[in-house]
Amino acid sequence: MCGIVGYIGPREAYPIIIEGLKRLEYRGYDSAGVALFDGTDLKVSKTKGKVADLEKRSEQEITKHGSVGIGHTRWATHGVPNDVNSHPHISNSGDLVIIHNGIIENYESLKQELISRGYTFKSDTDTEVLINLIEDVKKQEKVKLGKAVQIALNQVVGAYAIAVFDKNKPEEVVIARLGSPLAVGIGEDEFFIASDASPFIEYTKDAIYLEDEEMAIIRFHKGIKIRKIKDDSLVDPYVQKLQMNLEEIEKGGFDHFMLKEIYEQPKAITDTYRGRLLREEAIIKMAGIEDNMKKFLNADRIIIVACGTSWHAGLVAEYIFEDLARIPVEVEYASEFRYRNPIITEKDVLIAISQSGETADTLAAIKLAKSKGAFVFGVCNVVGSSIARETHAGAYTHAGPEIGVASTKAFTTQITVLTLMALRLARAKGTISSSDFRRHLLELEMIPQKVEESLKSDAHIKMISDIYKDVGNFLYLGRGYNFPVALEGALKLKEISYIHAEGYPAAEMKHGPIALIDENMPIVVIATRKGHYEKIVSNIQEIKSRKGKIIGIVTKGDVQVKELADHVIEIPETFELLSPLLTTIPLQLLSYHIAVLLDKNVDQPRNLAKSVTVE
Ligand code: AGP
Ligand code: GLU
Repeated sequence: MCGIVGYIGPREAYPIIIEGLKRLEYRGYDSAGVALFDGTDLKVSKTKGKVADLEKRSEQEITKHGSVGIGHTRWATHGVPNDVNSHPHISNSGDLVIIHNGIIENYESLKQELISRGYTFKSDTDTEVLINLIEDVKKQEKVKLGKAVQIALNQVVGAYAIAVFDKNKPEEVVIARLGSPLAVGIGEDEFFIASDASPFIEYTKDAIYLEDEEMAIIRFHKGIKIRKIKDDSLVDPYVQKLQMNLEEIEKGGFDHFMLKEIYEQPKAITDTYRGRLLREEAIIKMAGIEDNMKKFLNADRIIIVACGTSWHAGLVAEYIFEDLARIPVEVEYASEFRYRNPIITEKDVLIAISQSGETADTLAAIKLAKSKGAFVFGVCNVVGSSIARETHAGAYTHAGPEIGVASTKAFTTQITVLTLMALRLARAKGTISSSDFRRHLLELEMIPQKVEESLKSDAHIKMISDIYKDVGNFLYLGRGYNFPVALEGALKLKEISYIHAEGYPAAEMKHGPIALIDENMPIVVIATRKGHYEKIVSNIQEIKSRKGKIIGIVTKGDVQVKELADHVIEIPETFELLSPLLTTIPLQLLSYHIAVLLDKNVDQPRNLAKSVTVE
């Protein structure tokens, strides 16, 4: 969950680490710390709070000088966020220093054993146990640091991305990964270590992504050696050329990453269908589907697994796949699926959806399905991520880096990819006529422009946000394709404004939630013209009779809902099946403005992390 950065080379490490941590702060931000070797000794500065707090603190605490260093921004799993629990952690001798992303599950038994051997612990973290275990192995076995790390990790159960160095041998940094991402940027006689490539993108485009159960020893002037942790075998480094550039990970004039990413959606959706939706030829080209067409066509059913917003995209996909391609679909929370002994056979296709491609529960669900022989297809945003690599085939969303913790463009681009897949399969199965297929391609191609138009309601939505920002509860209602959008709207509001919100299928309201409605309750109703419109209008009447405040998301030119609702936000007309791509936009903006008006930290909401690499 946390962000880790390291540097070894001829430059000053501190500014590279601090800038890198800021870029990774979306991953975790309850504490931050840095360790540098300043030529004679190890200097550590760490604090509860943000990277900015670390900067202030290190100003007073350390010289900030040194060309070997590691830094960390934490998302606490073991021990409250405080100064002592912050990383880096130092071994009892004071020689070894570590940063760690993940969880050491058997830390308690390892800790007891180390205590019985005289080790003491300052923090409550599992990480401090690991660094002392490494130290203990190093002493007992009389081995070098790399070997000690390897032996120690073979005793560890859990997940980790770590970077360790010894102040007596600072020209060498040892890194390892299992379950948490780790990339190494290869410069000219210098190395950058990071949870993703963003901290080093302006220095080098050459990167190695460590695989699970791999470790590397990085030596100044001598290069990098990668080994398997289990059997010590050497691995040939595979150096990738990165496509990302710096502008993509900066705010570009917007106040927040979230707002920037909301506004990027027209481009992101276009990038997602570019080269795949070929309207003139009337075809959809997706290599991952073409190469595995038989698997999809022979599948008894499709199981979609995901978490959070990606799970909502999965729900939208369920409607689209069943409607267009007539393939039965089940959508599951990855966290439930992996632990409930599900029935999976070789005739199943599992689609895993994940922006980060690192979500631990989704990854575990994939491994489970693979072990039962299912074909697994990934829909990820982050290129080269663990899920992208673990799946048999897949399609990237091409949304570009999403930094805001609240997912926005990832959601709409996931729906775009899934719609393309459903259309392609429908065509192959013959469940859509060629003229309908063409109509859908044409309409999908117009979506970016319609998203652009939807964004024009921004000021109006800000005004509505001001009216309702102080309420304690919100309800979001939708039907059909827009039921998952209601869930997503409620999730967005909860995540960044901390206002309690629930999403419901509109017709389900009368089975319970209607009891909540009074004159203080705002209810966002998605009431597009083609989606069970008359039924939704009746639902709105029911709310109105109970004095609820209605914010209607309606199709441009709507009359009926306008008469009933307290406020309406218009979106352009489109096919009902594609409407989630538009109805989502005002809900994103509503949550954004409410959170800003409440002075909340929009990009880094409390308790959350961008990529959830722990269970
Ligand atoms: C979205 O706003 C959330 N922060 C969260 O629900 C997220 O969608 C979920 O953790 C899944 O992440 P993934 O798509 O990277 O797997
Ligand atoms: N488990 C470690 C801790 O609680 C690391 C958490 C993280 O990944 O930030 O400190």
